[in-house]
Amino acid sequence: MKIISNPLELKQYVKNKTRDSLGEQKSIGFVPTMGALHEGHISLIKKAKEQNDIVVVSIFVNPTQFLAGEDLDTYPKKDEADKKICEFSGVDVVFFPRAEDIYSEDEVSLLAPKVRGYVLEGTSRPGHFNGVLTVVMKLLHIVSPTRAYFGKKDAQQLHLIMLMVQQFFMDVEIVPVDTLRESDGLALSSRNVYLSPSQREEALKLSASLHLAHKMLRQNIFDANIITHKMRECLKPLEVEYVVVLNRDFELIEKVEIGNSVILVEAIVGKTRLLDNIWL
Ligand code: PAF
Repeated sequence: MKIISNPLELKQYVKNKTRDSLGEQKSIGFVPTMGALHEGHISLIKKAKEQNDIVVVSIFVNPTQFLAGEDLDTYPKKDEADKKICEFSGVDVVFFPRAEDIYSEDEVSLLAPKVRGYVLEGTSRPGHFNGVLTVVMKLLHIVSPTRAYFGKKDAQQLHLIMLMVQQFFMDVEIVPVDTLRESDGLALSSRNVYLSPSQREEALKLSASLHLAHKMLRQNIFDANIITHKMRECLKPLEVEYVVVLNRDFELIEKVEIGNSVILVEAIVGKTRLLDNIWL
């Protein structure tokens, strides 16, 4: 496995690798991460390996997607363990840049859409998605992958990246990957390490509320108001940021449409912002 930190070196490496000796084009699967890799990331890597000839993983804690006062300085870092996980998982190249390899002083940057980038997570984290889209755009240009893999847990991020790829006519397939959960239902997240044992118990209310929504759907209750009201009761006493039912275009809907809906919840446990959702 190769570890590269220079973007131009990676670009050259990928260029050389993607043509075999017969000039045949090889596919590249790309998994962008901020490190502190867990089983969720490993499932993205596995999918990338199944579907591509070469797999590139980036590990970069992107400063521009953190707002002032957020956890940039304390974001979990496990560089050596992450490299080992990549090696065991059969990754071909780890892209491991420093901030100065990616950003300079006077930057061109992308703006998230004025509506869909500033609702839900964007309400409490205004500007967060500008940073996400800018870095993902840069990474996609550096790696030039055939396919890039993103978890469905960060549903709004995934939606905005798909929108960016479509609106900028980019030549990459974005592959959404299902959320992995602990056996008790907690969605895997690098930020789960912030939770104390009692907060971890509290955090289970997120998946429990989604489980309840699922149960209501099985009882033919499709009304979004009724479902979100019951979910909010289940989430008590957590500080709930939002509970919403959206269609796959990320618009609020009044009735769940099976095959075209996603129910999202965000709540704060201790100081940790947790997201979860189900795709229906
Ligand atoms: O989901 C993440 O880990 C990050 O937001 C991403 C997509 C790697 C961009 O920094």
